[in-house]
Parts: sequence; structure tokens; C-alpha cells
Amino acid sequence: MKETRGRVTKDGIRIYDPADFAGMRAAGQVAAEILDAVIPLVKPGATTGELDEFITAEVERRGVISATIGYKGYRHASCISVNHVVCHGIPGNKVLADGDILNIDVTVIVDGWYGDTSRMFVAGNLGRKAERLIEVTHEGLMRGIAAVKPGNTFGDIGNAIQTYVEASRMSVVRDFCGHGLGRVFHAPPNVLHYGRAGSGAVLEEGMFFTIEPMVNLGRPETKVLADDWTAVTRDKSLSAQYEHSVGVTAEGCEIFTLSPAGKFFRTWA
Ligand code: MF3
Ligand code: CO
Ligand code: CO
Repeated sequence: MKETRGRVTKDGIRIYDPADFAGMRAAGQVAAEILDAVIPLVKPGATTGELDEFITAEVERRGVISATIGYKGYRHASCISVNHVVCHGIPGNKVLADGDILNIDVTVIVDGWYGDTSRMFVAGNLGRKAERLIEVTHEGLMRGIAAVKPGNTFGDIGNAIQTYVEASRMSVVRDFCGHGLGRVFHAPPNVLHYGRAGSGAVLEEGMFFTIEPMVNLGRPETKVLADDWTAVTRDKSLSAQYEHSVGVTAEGCEIFTLSPAGKFFRTWA
């Protein structure tokens, strides 16, 4: 379906109407509820395929649509990225072991609006390095979100994330980025999680996009496996990611994908 709402900036970024925030909020809340619901299932012995089956059932039970099933040939309702998998991990027969950390990423379509969010989960006991990685990744996302307000630029968002992550002696993945979304899954701009303050397009009220930094304990380089989806760290170091969908308001931004259970950052105990 062709998108005709609002207007488009010179950078090709759609500006939505105030009334459109309600649609994004509804979609974001469904995606976040599904991630809340999966929490009790994440434990050693579970397979990533079982988690995805549960997510598929939760999507269907709510009468909404998975944005990822059928997207560019992808066949699952979630991406599940374990340990050194950076993103786009394909759910399957992988059995979770004690201490594994995983990102689960869900995107749903509710009344035509896209809600895209991911967070970190832990199977069993969380190791100290992994805990630190997860904390820094979440804080990086929140610092990026804190830079979202009209008049700031996309470079300000990336710079806030990169500065914090690198000061924490970790690295920001360059090979994947956030994206505009709304009544489409992926739209301009590319939301980089690194960059120079003041660079890039200027933020305006009514822009909808994701911020979804991937942070590695080691080097930032990634490679995609032969399945054409799974991205891993080249140096096999641990990687983490958090993702929110946000809309720019007059004052700052609204986060559409907040956890109704208050378990966005800490999905574990
Ligand atoms: N949800 C992912 C994102 O944050 C995209 C997943 S596409 C898939 O943009 F096909 F891999 F599911
Ligand atoms: Co996304
Ligand atoms: Co996502």
C-alpha cells in the first residue's frame, strides 16, 4: 500500500500527524507485551525455535500480523540472537545453556502501524562481563533517546551512543542501523548508532524511527553467515542490542515500545 500520510522532508523522512502517534503506540505496546510474555520461557534447555513458536502464537492470539514472516523471505515471527550473534539470528534447534545472553526482536503490524522492539534476555545465571555489556548497551540506547528532540540531528543521537559505549571500552556495530518506520517497516533515514554531533538530518516533530544499537565486547566488525541472515561478531566476542520505536514530539520524544510490565532493561530477576 502506498503511504500518503503527512509530508516528506528534503531528506526523504516522512512527517506524521499528531493523530498518528496513537497508531504507533498501539503497535508498539503489542510488540512490547509479547516480549514481556516470553520472559518466563527463557531458561536453559529451551530452544530458540520454541521461543519463536510461542511468539508466533502470541501474535496470532492478539489478531495482529507479524512483520517479519515473509519479509525478504524470512520465515519467523522473531529474530533471536544468542551470545556472539549480533542480530537476525534465526530461531531453530539451538538449545539455550546456562549463562547464554540473547536478544529477541519482534515487529508486529497493528491496524497498519509497525511496532519494532528488541531487548536482552538471559538463560540462567548472568556472567559479569555479559551483565556489563547488557548494561552499557541499554544505557547507550537511552542516551541516544535522550538526544531525540526537534532541532537536534540524527548525528547527535549516534554521537551520544558512540561516545558512551566507547568510554565504556566497548564497540558500536557499524554494519546495521536503526530506521524510519510507520506504515512501513523500513523507511528513511538510516539511524546510525555512531557519528558526529550536528551531522545528518535535523529532527522534526512527527518523525517515527527506531534506535537499536548493537554493542560488542570486542571489535565492531561483523560477518553474515551462509544462511544470509545471521550476523556474528568477526572476533567471536559477545554482542548485545536493545531497540525502541520512538516518535519525535515538540518536547522530545515518545517511546512507543515501553514494557507494560516494566521489564524492558531487566527481563531477568
Ligand atoms: N526487527 C528487525 C529490525 O529491527 C528486522 C528484522 S527483519 C527479519 O529492523 F527479516 F530479519 F526479521
Ligand atoms: Co528495527
Ligand atoms: Co527490530
